Amino acid sequence: MTGNPKTASMSLLKTETAPVRTDTDVVLVRQKVRAWAVELGFGLVDQTKIVTAASELARNVLIYGGGGTVRLEALNDGMRKGLRLTFEDHGPGISNLELAMKDGYSTGTGLGLGLSGAKRLSNEFELRSAPGEGTRVMIARWK
Ligand SMILES: Nc1ncnc2c1ncn2[C@@H]1O[C@H](COP(=O)(O)OP(=O)(O)OP(=O)(O)O)[C@@H](O)[C@H]1O
Ligand SMILES: [Mg+2]
Repeated sequence: MTGNPKTASMSLLKTETAPVRTDTDVVLVRQKVRAWAVELGFGLVDQTKIVTAASELARNVLIYGGGGTVRLEALNDGMRKGLRLTFEDHGPGISNLELAMKDGYSTGTGLGLGLSGAKRLSNEFELRSAPGEGTRVMIARWK
């Protein structure tokens, strides 16, 4: 036997990496995520959920991470279509992930709802960060 049965039939339909360095980039990321969600056949509610999550994570990359990138991946796992987004920056990182995920916790001027909101709006959420090295947040939404 080779491969993981859970991912054996996963196929990557399309992928692209976009910069997240300016406010304009955040707008472009929102538009791109919307367009990909439409192309995957997502309904309006699912489109809005992943666009909103993407917007929060892109703003974090910009504000806290000092800029970075997002990789978009259109997937088909054999049953469902999915959109996976991976936000990455090489900023200061997050020292306490549990605290950062708490509703209302912010080291800036925000409401502290971005990360927790993005998690609630997604079917998959993974946050990895090493202080001094940067932050990576992966979300996926399936239909
Ligand atoms: N990419 C990142 N790099 C470094 N720290 C981050 C990053 N993303 C989030 N954080 C930290 O996690 C905290 C919580 O993030 P979250 O997005 O939930 O709230 P916020 O950005 O402070 O406010 P809001 O998103 O509601 O405007 C931030 O205040 C910041 O300290
Ligand atoms: Mg935020």
